[in-house]
Amino acid sequence: MPDIHPPIEPFRIKAVEPIRRPARPERQRALKAAGFNVFGIPAEKIFIDLLTDSGTSAMSDAQWAGIMRGDESYAGARSFFRFEQAVRDQFGFAHVIPAHQGRAAERILFEGLVKKGDFVPSNIHFDTTRANVEVRGAKAVDLVIDEAYNPDSDHPFKGNMDIAKLKGFIARRGRAHIPLVMLTITNNSGGGQPVSMENIRQVSAVCRKARIPFFFDACRFAENAFFIRQREKGYGKKSVALIAREMFSHAEGATMSAKKDALVNIGGFITLNDAELAKKLKNILIIGEGFPTYGGLAGRDLEAIAQGLSEVVDEEYLAYRTGQAAYLGALLDRVGVPYFKPVGGHAVYLLADRMLPAIPREHFPAWALTVALYREAGVRSVEIGGVMFGSKDPRTGKPIFPQLEMVRLAIPRRVYTVSHLGYVADALGSIAAKKTKVRGLRIIDEPRFLRHFTARFEEI
Ligand code: F0G
Repeated sequence: MPDIHPPIEPFRIKAVEPIRRPARPERQRALKAAGFNVFGIPAEKIFIDLLTDSGTSAMSDAQWAGIMRGDESYAGARSFFRFEQAVRDQFGFAHVIPAHQGRAAERILFEGLVKKGDFVPSNIHFDTTRANVEVRGAKAVDLVIDEAYNPDSDHPFKGNMDIAKLKGFIARRGRAHIPLVMLTITNNSGGGQPVSMENIRQVSAVCRKARIPFFFDACRFAENAFFIRQREKGYGKKSVALIAREMFSHAEGATMSAKKDALVNIGGFITLNDAELAKKLKNILIIGEGFPTYGGLAGRDLEAIAQGLSEVVDEEYLAYRTGQAAYLGALLDRVGVPYFKPVGGHAVYLLADRMLPAIPREHFPAWALTVALYREAGVRSVEIGGVMFGSKDPRTGKPIFPQLEMVRLAIPRRVYTVSHLGYVADALGSIAAKKTKVRGLRIIDEPRFLRHFTARFEEI
């Protein structure tokens, strides 16, 4: 086996938060009490929490200093102007509208643009953009390239939009019913895979020709830009900040959940060029989020975002960041745990049906793996498979399963060290070694929508 070089953390630790590994009987009790749903386990009973990379970043000393400097004036706070300038510098759009998180930005943008009967194409919509499109009576359409669904393809930009599909879709539906086209960077629902600059240029050209506005869902823009730097010809020597500026120069605007690549625990924004639309969105913002110079955030949050945006494009940081996911992947190769390849920017996605072939899809192998991983090691992960995305045929009542049955190990930014990742890989290796002991589950109680959050299970 070749040596695996761990990424080096480009920071030292100034404040620590103790974590505790509950003993096995306590883990067992916690699972039972939560109905075998890791969303229901109190965070204090989790040793390593890989549920999400959203809002879970560790802030830097400079960000914490910004928290103290926050100007909490209702209107025209100094912190707003610093935030506005930081977003303008990094994204290059004229108008900046704060919101309390990504989905609030999406809701406001779509309220301004989308009407009943419309279609909104994307590579793959994240759940909240899909929900915010569909709650308006419109349809969210995924037009990603076919390789996106193939866990073995080593395509370097599996997040790319399928340009032929996009052109065909616009020709069929007509531009009047397509108020905007989106691109999610990186493509979270497709394994955190990046979109290439060439693809961004092509999407932009198609949209310009059809006179349809093109927006990014830019949550993980810096990770996407770093992959372009590493993988796309002509970008190896360009700074990530400049690559990001070039990406954004092809669009009309973006929505952003600052809880990812702004390295903060809460926040989001819309940024765009269209002055008329910006005015309309600010009026919607005032009704639901707040005055346009704070948008549902505190001044201190705006300071932390402004600082985070300058830290996230640092290449040392991004090498470590994407290196952590790659390192975890390499450790999993060693212990024979299958995952979606290539590793994305913010997470490793395990292929649970391959890892646990004895559990039929009806008994939710990926869900079973989240339970096994908590039971084995106190590690929390999230199922992205038959529970989250499964449905029933309305006529026959037969279950319909999504193509992929995965477990996401999302890595919070700057939070866990290499030894934490080693511990997670070891735990998965132990589970793989005794995989016949892992039990499938059946649902005993489920809500009508978004069942994965609150459904209860029993083991079979
Ligand atoms: N878009 C993408 C691509 C996301 O990944 C998320 C959140 C959002 C929009 C919504 O942002 O949470 O600030 O409202 N993703 C989190 C996750 C929840 O775990 O992947 P938000």
